[in-house]
Formats: sequence, structure tokens, C-alpha cells
Amino acid sequence: MKYQETYEHSMNDPQDFWAKAAAEIDWQRPWDKVLDDSKAPFYQWFSGGKLNTCYNSLDRHVNNGRAEQTALIYDSPVTSSKQTFSFRELRDQVAVLAGALSNMGVSKGDRVVIYMPMIPETVMAMLACARIGAIHSVVFGGFAADQLAERIDDAKPKVILSASCGIEVNKVILYKPLLDSAIEKSTYKPEHCLLLQRPQAQADMIDGRDIDWQQACTQAQPVDCVTVAATDPLYILYTSGTTGKPKGVVRDNGGHAVAMLWSIRHVYNMKPGDIFWAASDVGWVVGHSYIVYAPLLNANTTILYEGKPVGTPDPGAFWRVIEEHKVNALFTAPTAFRAIKKEDPHGNYLEKYDLSHFRTLFLAGERCDPDTLNWAEDLLKVPVIDHWWQTETGWAIAADCLGIEQLPIKPGSPTKAVPGYDVQVLDEQGNNVAEGDIGNIVIKLPMPPGCLTTLWNNDAHFIDSYLSRYPGYYLTGDAGYADSDDYLWIMSRIDDVINVAGHRLSTGAFEEVLASHPDVAECAVIGVADKLKGELPLGLAVLKADVTRDSSDIVPELIALVREKIGPVAAFKQAIIIERLPKTRSGKILRGTMRSIADAKDYKMPATIDDPAILDEIAETLKTIGYAKTE
Ligand code: COA
Ligand code: AMP
Repeated sequence: MKYQETYEHSMNDPQDFWAKAAAEIDWQRPWDKVLDDSKAPFYQWFSGGKLNTCYNSLDRHVNNGRAEQTALIYDSPVTSSKQTFSFRELRDQVAVLAGALSNMGVSKGDRVVIYMPMIPETVMAMLACARIGAIHSVVFGGFAADQLAERIDDAKPKVILSASCGIEVNKVILYKPLLDSAIEKSTYKPEHCLLLQRPQAQADMIDGRDIDWQQACTQAQPVDCVTVAATDPLYILYTSGTTGKPKGVVRDNGGHAVAMLWSIRHVYNMKPGDIFWAASDVGWVVGHSYIVYAPLLNANTTILYEGKPVGTPDPGAFWRVIEEHKVNALFTAPTAFRAIKKEDPHGNYLEKYDLSHFRTLFLAGERCDPDTLNWAEDLLKVPVIDHWWQTETGWAIAADCLGIEQLPIKPGSPTKAVPGYDVQVLDEQGNNVAEGDIGNIVIKLPMPPGCLTTLWNNDAHFIDSYLSRYPGYYLTGDAGYADSDDYLWIMSRIDDVINVAGHRLSTGAFEEVLASHPDVAECAVIGVADKLKGELPLGLAVLKADVTRDSSDIVPELIALVREKIGPVAAFKQAIIIERLPKTRSGKILRGTMRSIADAKDYKMPATIDDPAILDEIAETLKTIGYAKTE
């Protein structure tokens, strides 16, 4: 079937479309309704249905003749180690870990926070939770203790799973002190921590609270899959919003399994047995969907890579992994390719490797600049597919669906809406804009299976963040346009979210931290353009009138404070002290205007600015750190 026909089927008869997709999943009880709108706008997919996501990801392949096929390849240049797990081995180890969790009192509906590096045990931890119906919440390792504490307070996990350390190129990052500090800061306290001691660092254990991972697994018996409702939550994943407080995106079991399986086949064109590599981190949605669930549900071999595109050891790292594991498709963020291009602009490292099994490169997570796309395509001689999605949707909203029909590529556009998504572009009043005009990109409700069902413990915030701006539509938070061929062009965020190396961060969260510094009167944080990471945060702070300290002493403190409160992943390395912030007469800080000035882009003088002269002052200060250069 061709794209247009498939898309129309999904729009005209979503119940039939998704029922057919759901037939590829093993259900313990069939659903009563494919789409249940009785609680709209909280739509439910496959209500009445019962299944287990871990069973579908592991056990059923073991039972159906794929027991000895490799399920997971762990490739870790930072520890010089590799390990493979067949579906049987992975199932067995997950079943034992699930037994250990059960011994710790974890059962269906309990939350489990996972704060771990890119090691096989992290994947096992997620699947073990799914096996017993516990709700996992993975927290990315590059976040600081305060961020972890905030997530602990929101999710209230019975148990936290962690490891003694992570490894960043050649630095050992001790996780245990961060974990201990987070639990000290959080109001809610987990009953236990299950801790994996990695050979690179030995963590001190707290008596009574901390349990050794290996020991717990040695003492545990394997447990079977627990049946859960299709509508029961599988996981919570926190993401940045407009405010400093992260939003707990909730994903269900049934709709998620169906969407994952459908998307890996139809968007990524993966057949069972193919080898799929998502070079991301399990702490992000890409890792949840395409390192763990989708490839395993589809009986693919998935690669877990503990390394970077460059520096582990060189810019040929990705080619080495592709050759060695006969990878068929790679999914990563454009920033990873910009990093490779920077170090190896002519692609000399590629010459050493045989990429004959490699069919496609998929890029997402941030806007893909045409230069990067063209460079990758010229070098690799395979289709390079830009696709657009977000933590909330869990899978692509717009893509060239290679498993359906490859459409012509227009560099800079993630192609057309994926079947299941009714994407529209609206103006401020809620009218559809004309072709080519920029507006707010929305998805008409109901969204397809697999998208967020709510925000954890906060239905009201779900409604006001996403559904109240345009009733009947989900607000993506992205602005852009559709062209005359219905290709979508995603241009910018409409909120205070910035995208640093494919990582989504909130400028509101940065501002809260800067404002907590005793010398800061007020501040703004903007995302400025960066050739490698896409965007970088830049802080602008106004000091209190009585501060006499030198700004060269204060700026490093601001930088250290953000690293301590948000984490190294924030990549906050630049701040300037200014006399005053540009504002409208009603007091709104003109962040967009400052951003244009920093990026040396044309801007319209805001009609409501209270004092235009401030903009020149800011431009001068920005020039001292290399921004606002017009030449
Ligand atoms: N645990 C602890 N610290 C972490 C971490 C983790 N899991 N992940 C990143 N960090 C730290 C890094 O060590 C770095 O710290 P530093 O300031 O001390 O150098 C900081 O967070 C920023 O990390 P990163 O964003 O990885 O930047 P980088 O400069 O080390 O590398 C790239 C740049 C482009 C190579 C890197 O961003 C990359 O590989 N990106 C791939 C894209 C990706 O995975 N995106 C995810 C969504 S698809
Ligand atoms: P995250 O939730 O971290 O995956 O970030 C999602 C956001 O990243 C989206 O809302 C977009 O702003 C941006 N994004 C992701 N993929 C793309 C893409 N292919 N093109 C443009 N922006 C993208």
C-alpha cells in the first residue's frame, strides 16, 4: 500500500487501522473498544484489553523460535567491553531481576526510578518493571541531584535502581553520591535502592536501605509476566516544559506496544531479525522507544552503545559499530553527525570500514540543517531520513515512512504527517493558516496510540499545557508550516524550551537557578545558535544595586550553580552581566529580541519596548563574548 492510501485509511477509519496493527501484538484478553472516547479528551486505546509488554518484547520471541537470536548487543568503547544477549538470555535475566524487585515488595502500579548509565542492566531494569506491572521512570544520568530529587518527589518510587558510576569518554562519573544527595533533598523517601557495583567505582552502601544488585539477583527466583490492562501505565518520562518543573509524560501499555511495533516496521522499515541501532541514551524518549521497546517488540537485534560519536576513540566510532554488528539502520541526532563532520570533514575514517549492511540513517531530536543531511547522504550513500517527534508523542509525527513508500526528500523538512496523526497549522485565533504560512503546529484529537495519556498525577496540567490553547487539538509547542505538497517544516519552539545537542531543556529552569544566586536581581536565559549543538544556553543577569563584587567573580559562580542544580547536560558555560534587561512597557522580558541580537539576525524593534537604547548596550556586551557579530 502507498503512503497516501495508508494515511487516508488511518484518518477515515482509525478503529480499523489500529485494530489491524494491534493484531500483531499478543493479548491476554482482547480489547472491548479500539478507541474509547468515553473520558475525552482523555482518549484510551484498546480499553478492556490485557497484555504484558515484557512478554511481547521477550517471551513471545523465545516461544516462537527466536530464543537463540541476539536480542541485545552492548558495545562499550569507554570500558573496552562488549556483550551479547540472546532473547532467551535476556528473558531469563529480566525474569530474575523482576523476582528481585518483587522480593523488595515492588508490585503492579508501584513506581521504580532508574538512574543508570548505558549498560545492559538498565534495559533489564526497564523490562523487569514492565514484567511485573511496575511503572518505571528513567532519569538521564547527566542530570544533577536536585533534578533527580524533584522526579523522586513527583513519582514517589518504592525503589530506586542505580549503579556506582557512569563513564563519560574518559571520566568516571560517580552516581552514588548524586543518588544519596537526591534522596537527602527529596521529601519523599524510597524504601530501598538496588545498586549495581561497576568495576570502575565502588559505591558505599547505606545499611538497611541499599541492596546489592548481584546479591539480590543471586537470591531471587525468576518470575512470570503479570497481566496488566492496556490502559495501565508502562512508564513515566520527565521532560522539560515552560516552567522549571519537569512534566511527567505517562505512556500506557497497550497503545504503546501497538505504536512501537507499527512504527519500527512502517517508519523505519525494520523486519524481524534486522539490526537496529539508536545511538541515544535510555534516559531520553529515543532510548525508551527505539533502543528498548520497538526493536525488541519487533524481534530486532538492538545495540546499546556506551560511547560518543567522537572521542571514543575517534570520529570513525559509528562506522566501526555499524561494520562490526552489521547494523541495518542507525538513528541518532543531527548533532552527532555535526560532531563527526567537525573532526573528519572529508569522511576519511569511513574508508576503513565495510558498511555493506547499512541501509538507512534516521535523524531526529532537533531541526536537521540541510548541510548536515547532505553531508551524511554524500558520505554514506544511503537515504538520510529526518523525522519529527517529541517525548510526548513517543514516536514520529512526521517522517518519510520507508516501510510504506519512500517519498522524495526535501532537506530541512521531516516530510509528511505519519499515518495516525492529523497535523494542522493554526493561527492565533485557531484558523488554519494558508499554505506556506507559519503558525502553531497542532495535532487534532484523538492522537494515535502510543502518545502520552496524561501527565503523572496531574490531569489538569496535561489539559492546560497541551489541550486548552485550541480545544480539540494537542499543542505540539512547535511552530512551522506546511508547503504545497503537504510537507511539514518545523521552524522553532513557541515556548521557553531550547534544544542543546538534541537534549530538551527549559530556559525557565535555568532562570530559576540564576535567580537564586544572592547577587542576582533579575535574569534571562536564551538559546543562542551553535554550529555543533544546535543551540546553547546563554545567561544574562542584572546584579542587585548594592553588589560591589566584580562580575568576573560572579559569572563562574553562576555557571557552577547551574551545573550543580541542573547538571552537566545543561552545557551552561556562558553568562554575562548587564545593567538592565530589555522589557516591554508591561514588563515582559524581550528574550526573542535578545536572541536575534546574539545570533546577529535582523529583528523588528518591538513597538512596546520601554527603552530601545538597552538593545545597543546588550549587543556591545554580547560582542565581548563572540556574539552579535554582524560581519
Ligand atoms: N552522565 C553524566 N554526565 C553526562 C552524561 C551522562 N549520562 N551525558 C552527558 N554528560 C555530560 C558530559 O560529560 C558533558 O560534561 P562536561 O561539561 O563535563 O564536558 C555534558 O554532560 C554535556 O554532554 P554532551 O551533550 O554529551 O556534550 P559533549 O560535548 O560531551 O558531546 C556530542 C557533544 C555532540 C558528541 C554529544 O552531545 C552527542 O553525542 N550527542 C548525540 C545526540 C544524542 O544522543 N541526543 C539525544 C537525543 S536523540
Ligand atoms: P524531545 O521531547 O526531547 O524529543 O524534543 C522534542 C522537540 O525537539 C520537538 O518539539 C522539536 O522542537 C524538536 N525536534 C525533534 N525532532 C525534530 C525535527 N526532526 N525537526 C525539527 N525539530 C525537531
